[in-house]
Amino acid sequence: MAYMAKIGPSILSSNLACLGSECVRMMECGADYLHLDVMDGHFVPNLTFGHPMVECLRKSVGPDPFFDMHMMVSRPEQWVKPMSAAGANQYTFHLEATTNPGNLIKEIREAGMKVGLAIKPGTTVEELAPWANQIDMALVMTVEPGFGGQKFMDDMMPKVSWLRSQFPSLDIEVDGGVGPDTIHRCAEAGANMIVSGSAVIGNDDPRSVISLLRTVVSEAIQKRSLDR
Ligand code: DX5
Ligand code: ZN
Repeated sequence: MAYMAKIGPSILSSNLACLGSECVRMMECGADYLHLDVMDGHFVPNLTFGHPMVECLRKSVGPDPFFDMHMMVSRPEQWVKPMSAAGANQYTFHLEATTNPGNLIKEIREAGMKVGLAIKPGTTVEELAPWANQIDMALVMTVEPGFGGQKFMDDMMPKVSWLRSQFPSLDIEVDGGVGPDTIHRCAEAGANMIVSGSAVIGNDDPRSVISLLRTVVSEAIQKRSLDR
């Protein structure tokens, strides 16, 4: 099977005054990648940071950690080149935010980044499907984007199952309210890239939480490959 279990802490819920050391700490605790939430106060009712911050983070953590940029912004076209120059590895934009996903996918690739495509809870997975063969990762939001610490929406799981059945080797990410209590649902449905904010960062022992999340997802992947 092409895809693997990967855990990406969302550093939104960390002490933002110490972002660099928090990123390093998460990698030391076994994170596979870092999920960085960019919000513009327009696409979502909250504001975080942009490419100047990403550039500083890249300098502070070095070349290795994989930066998955979750772009909760209204004009995702605008930040492709600046994010690439700042050291982003993957540019995950929202389908709802653009009228021309095909062109944006092309621009992201030309800028040398991987492509992620996200859908909000109100967007159907059928709307994402036409692009699935052109992207590296599909992100199924399991909360309304904008804030960490919200309740996991279990009713998003049929979207994940459907995507997994249609695109057996696609990376599928879930984001929002994912932690030890909800990981089994995500893993069974077929998600393999797991974003977790408050459940990892807010725990005294992030290493154990990351390891638990990865074990549950790896076991589900193994089971699925045996069932095939
Ligand atoms: C929400 C963000 C998430 C958020 C996840 O809009 O996209 O990445 O930080 O945090 P938790 O895991 O606390 O829901
Ligand atoms: Zn996110």
